[in-house]
Amino acid sequence: MSTQSSDKPKKHTALTVANAKGKDRLVAVTAYDAQFARLFDPHVDILLVGDSLGMVIQGNSDTLGVTIEDVIYHTKAVARGRSRAHLVADMPFLTAGLGSRTAVKNAGRLISEGRADAVKIEGGVAVAKAIAAIVAQGIPVMGHVGLTPQSVHRMGGYKIQGKTEISRKNILDDALATEQAGAYSIVLEGIPADLAAEITAKLKIPTIGIGAGKVCDGQILVAYDLLGLNPDFCPKFAKQFATLHPLISGAIKQYAQAVKEETFPGKEHSF
Ligand code: KIV
Repeated sequence: MSTQSSDKPKKHTALTVANAKGKDRLVAVTAYDAQFARLFDPHVDILLVGDSLGMVIQGNSDTLGVTIEDVIYHTKAVARGRSRAHLVADMPFLTAGLGSRTAVKNAGRLISEGRADAVKIEGGVAVAKAIAAIVAQGIPVMGHVGLTPQSVHRMGGYKIQGKTEISRKNILDDALATEQAGAYSIVLEGIPADLAAEITAKLKIPTIGIGAGKVCDGQILVAYDLLGLNPDFCPKFAKQFATLHPLISGAIKQYAQAVKEETFPGKEHSF
């Protein structure tokens, strides 16, 4: 059995992520293909193949149409592009909540076919049994509570959760149930910062926030949001660290013009 040489960058695993609590802040981002995975991998701890792919890649208005095959396809691509980041694949709508047997089977496909290191499941109390069954088969599970996009119809839209006492209690219960079921980390999405801070203090597993303030153990963003690829929309909680949309659009415009004006391809591009 070979050991890792000390000058190789450390590979992130479910264990290193879990152990980061209270020591290192976790950096996570979504990825959907090998090229972006290769670009992101040196800088982040976690790559998530989120079912947000239904919106940013497939162009739908929600994540509900994403299938397990879709996530496997994109996870395979991301797995080819990453070398050290921990790779998590999302369990799409109704792939975890219809009984433990189905949940384990679907999680297993993301690991064996997709080559993910772990799976992420939305919901807390309602999916606790499924989380425990998946963990019992040796598959690490990342939880996801608060604003859970797969419940968009129940929530009446993508609305901040935890604004009433009862909603706060439900989210806390979901987070505790997720931890108790054996999850190694948990995403807190779209909840008040003080509730995220309370959950972060109560849980032993690291919390990864998105629209949940800064008192989490780490942060995650959808890559297309942080790169500024959508000119029409950026959620309030996401910061655009670049504005790539005009750059890409400008490059395509120049290419189109060059073809029309017959300045491309030039001699240097010809054989
Ligand atoms: O699907 C996704 O990209 C996610 C993140 C936003 C946490 O669940």
